[in-house]
Amino acid sequence: MAEQEKGGVSAEVRRVLPDQFTTGLGVLFATLGSAVGLGNIWKFPSLAGSNGGAAFLVIYLICTVLVGLPIMLTEQMIGRKGRGDAVTALKRVAPGKAWWLIGAAGVLAAFLIMAFYTEVAGWVFAYIFKAIFGNILSTNPEVTSAAFGALVSSPAQSLIWQWVDLLIVGAIIVFGVSKGIEAATKRLMPILFILLVIVGIRSLTLPGAAQGLAFLFKPDFTKITFGVVLAALGLAFFKLSIGMGCMITYGGYYGEDQNIPAMATRVVLSDLAVSLLAGIAIFPVVFAFGFEPAIGPSLLFITIPSVFASMPLGNIFIVFFFVLTFIASVGAQLSLLEVIVAFLVNRLNMNRVKATITTVVSLALVGSLAALSGNVLSKVLVFGKSFFDLFDFISSNMILPLGGLFLAIFAGWVWGYPRFKVALSNEGRLNNAGFLRFVFFLLKVVTPVLVFVVLLGGLGVF
Ligand code: TRP
Repeated sequence: MAEQEKGGVSAEVRRVLPDQFTTGLGVLFATLGSAVGLGNIWKFPSLAGSNGGAAFLVIYLICTVLVGLPIMLTEQMIGRKGRGDAVTALKRVAPGKAWWLIGAAGVLAAFLIMAFYTEVAGWVFAYIFKAIFGNILSTNPEVTSAAFGALVSSPAQSLIWQWVDLLIVGAIIVFGVSKGIEAATKRLMPILFILLVIVGIRSLTLPGAAQGLAFLFKPDFTKITFGVVLAALGLAFFKLSIGMGCMITYGGYYGEDQNIPAMATRVVLSDLAVSLLAGIAIFPVVFAFGFEPAIGPSLLFITIPSVFASMPLGNIFIVFFFVLTFIASVGAQLSLLEVIVAFLVNRLNMNRVKATITTVVSLALVGSLAALSGNVLSKVLVFGKSFFDLFDFISSNMILPLGGLFLAIFAGWVWGYPRFKVALSNEGRLNNAGFLRFVFFLLKVVTPVLVFVVLLGGLGVF
C-alpha cells in the first residue's frame, strides 16, 4: 500500500515506467528547466531588441496565452495518459491512427535542435572560462568581436566546446529521470534565479538604466508588423519547449495527482519572469553604455562582454552572467536529450546507458556540421543556409509549428472536451472546469488558426 501511494502513481504504472519525477516541486523545476534556456537569455532579448522592445513583448504575451499554454497542456495530458516517449504515448492515446507521426517528427526535431543548441551552449561554457581569465573583457566592441570571431572560426575550439557540453548533459541524462534530470534541475534552477536577480540589480543601479527599462516596457505599436507577430509566435514555441513532444515525454513522468494546469501556468509565468529578468539585466546596461541592442549571437558574445567591461566589478558580474546562461541551457538540453533517449529506450529496447551514448555520439557527429559551419564549412550552403541555420530553420520554423498545429487539432477535434476535462481535472478531483473550457475553446479554434498562419509565414509564403 505504501508503495502504491508514492507520488500518486499506481504500482502498475510504475512497473511500466519505473522512473518518474518524485515530487511536485521536482516536476515544476524539471519542466521549468526545459522551458528556460537560451531562448530566454539569448533569443528573447535579441528579438525584442530588434522588434520594438515592449511592443514585441505584448505580442509575445498574447501568443503565449492563445497558443503556448493550450499546446503545453495538451502535450502534458497526452504524456501522462500515454506514459511513454513521444511516439509511444501518442500510439497509446490514439491506437491505430497516424498521430504518432507528430512524435516521430519531434524526435527528429530534438536531434536537429540539439545539433545547433549544443554549439551555442558550448560557446557559453567557453565564455565562462574566458571571462574568468579576462581575455574577452574589453570596452572596445571591436576587441570583443575579434575574440568571438577567433572562437567561431577555429574548428578545433568549436568542436571541443560543443563536445564538452554534450559530455556534461549526457552525464546527467544517463542517471535517469529522478536521479538525473530532477536532481540536477532542482539544484540548478534556484542558482539561476539568484544569479539573474543579482545581475539584474547591478544593471538597474547603473546610470542610464531608465532608458533600457523604457525600451523594454513602453510599447511602440508602430513597430508591429506581420513579421514581428511571426517572430513572437515562433519564439513562444521555442521558449515553451512545445510542438515536438518534449512536454509529452516529461508528462509521462508526472504523477497522477499532479495538478497539470496549475503547474503549467506557473511554468509559463516563471518562464516569462526569467525572460523579463534577462531583459532587465541586459537592456539597461546596453543603453547605459551607449550600445545598440544587437541581433543574434553578437548580443550575447560581443555586446555583453564590452558592456560588462565598462562597469565597476564587471569582471565578476560577467562570470555570473555566463554561468547563469549555461545553467539555463543545461535544463533545456536535458529535456531535448530525454526526448531522444526515451524514444531509443522504449522503441529500440536499448538500455539507458546505451541509448545515451548512442545519442551523444550521433549528436557529436551531426552537431559538428553546425560547429564547423562558422569555419571550414562556411562556404557549404544547403537551400542557401549554413548547416547551423538549416537545423534551426527546419526544427523551429517547420516541425514545431506543424507539430503544434496537429496537436491542437488532435486535442480539439479528436480527443474532445469530455476526455480533455477528465484528464486535466484529475478525474474531477480538481475544480478547474471554467479554465479548461476556455483552454479547450482556444485549442479547437484559435490556436490552430493562428499556428497555421505562422507556419505559412515561417515558410515565407507571405
Ligand atoms: N525552451 C528551451 C529554450 O528556451 C529550448 C527547448 C528545450 C526546446 N526543449 C525544447 C525548444 C523543445 C523547442 C522544443 O532555450
